[in-house]
Amino acid sequence: MKLIYLDNAATTPVLNEVVEAVADCLRNYFGNPSSLHRLGIKSEKLIKEAAESLAAVLHVAADELIFTSGGTEANNMAILGTALARQRAGRHLITTAIEHPSVLRVFEHLEAQSFEVTYLPVDKSGLVSSDRLEKEIRPDTILVSIMHVNNEIGSIQPIEELGRIIKGANPNTVFHVDAIQSFGKLELYPRKWSVDLMSLSGHKIHGPKGIGALYIRKGVRLQPILFGGGQQRGYRSGTENLAGIAGLGVAAKFIRHELENRPVYLYELKNRLLSGLKDALPQAVINGSLESGAPHIVNIGFPGLKGEVVLHALEDEGVFVSTGSACSSRDRTVSHVLKAIGVDDRVAGGSIRVSTSYLTTMDEIDAFIRILASVVSRVEKYSRR
Ligand SMILES: Cc1ncc(COP(=O)(O)O)c(C=O)c1O
Repeated sequence: MKLIYLDNAATTPVLNEVVEAVADCLRNYFGNPSSLHRLGIKSEKLIKEAAESLAAVLHVAADELIFTSGGTEANNMAILGTALARQRAGRHLITTAIEHPSVLRVFEHLEAQSFEVTYLPVDKSGLVSSDRLEKEIRPDTILVSIMHVNNEIGSIQPIEELGRIIKGANPNTVFHVDAIQSFGKLELYPRKWSVDLMSLSGHKIHGPKGIGALYIRKGVRLQPILFGGGQQRGYRSGTENLAGIAGLGVAAKFIRHELENRPVYLYELKNRLLSGLKDALPQAVINGSLESGAPHIVNIGFPGLKGEVVLHALEDEGVFVSTGSACSSRDRTVSHVLKAIGVDDRVAGGSIRVSTSYLTTMDEIDAFIRILASVVSRVEKYSRR
């Protein structure tokens, strides 16, 4: 059976070039990048090259990037690091109701440390209101953290506009963006958008798991959350994950190439998916907005069905999708994102998330529609009994 992998928002298949770069690094670059001898310098050079490839995706300087153990650490580092560095200037923080748990749980932790957190609501398309954001910013607001693309419904926040509003209301407020889902799918311009901190993750762009990065705009103050040997200019102590960094560098090069050469491919896949759904499954509801949505994520609800049953029935046919958000583990409660956009429980419970990548083909989308139509009709019959 040929497998059809449509769970790319959870993680992406690792490119062969990445596997080769990781293996080559493990074999040939064992020197500690902090060592003064030539084996160390050779390893340090590899880190610099990877940072340059990554910087080209973000249109920033390589020395504005810090490698982390993934998106979760980048988000923790940005939020905790800002709160710790700037707590004397104020204790008010702003985020949204639809952030990833690696952001929301950090804010809950800070609330327990007597920081005050404002959670911005979203409309039914999953977008925050810029007027509301402007009203919430105060002289003691030290940080605003807003994700670029939502991992469950794909809504895209207008980061440039939000950046302008934040800096207009309080130029000292730090702006953090979790760009983990938009990384490699949309062009990112943190500098032009007044973004101070931006989180990235390797495994969403066909790189290895357990490696990510944080963009720290020059001049932004951040307290480390890991202390030790002072690697990475003291921002993140610990001997670098050299093989992961090498793999991430190669994945970043691939993504830079795709963004330049196939900028609309993911939108073409999405259009094919949506028109196929309309013809073959008119009962399907799209959660979130089609117009303001990311090219690679579609959240589809089948009222009255169980998303998990549809997921496993698809799996039996060799198709892999997710219910709600695979990133938020195997949590079976209704997704906080679907709740925040006001999706009815009957629809939310019967929702699946389909997510593509540059490796997904049109033929796979066509086959998926055929398989989904037969699976849903089977599950519907079974559910009616
Ligand atoms: C929006 C978002 N933020 C953060 C993360 C966490 O990244 P990581 O898995 O690299 O820790 C994910 C996915 O896992 C995500 O989709």
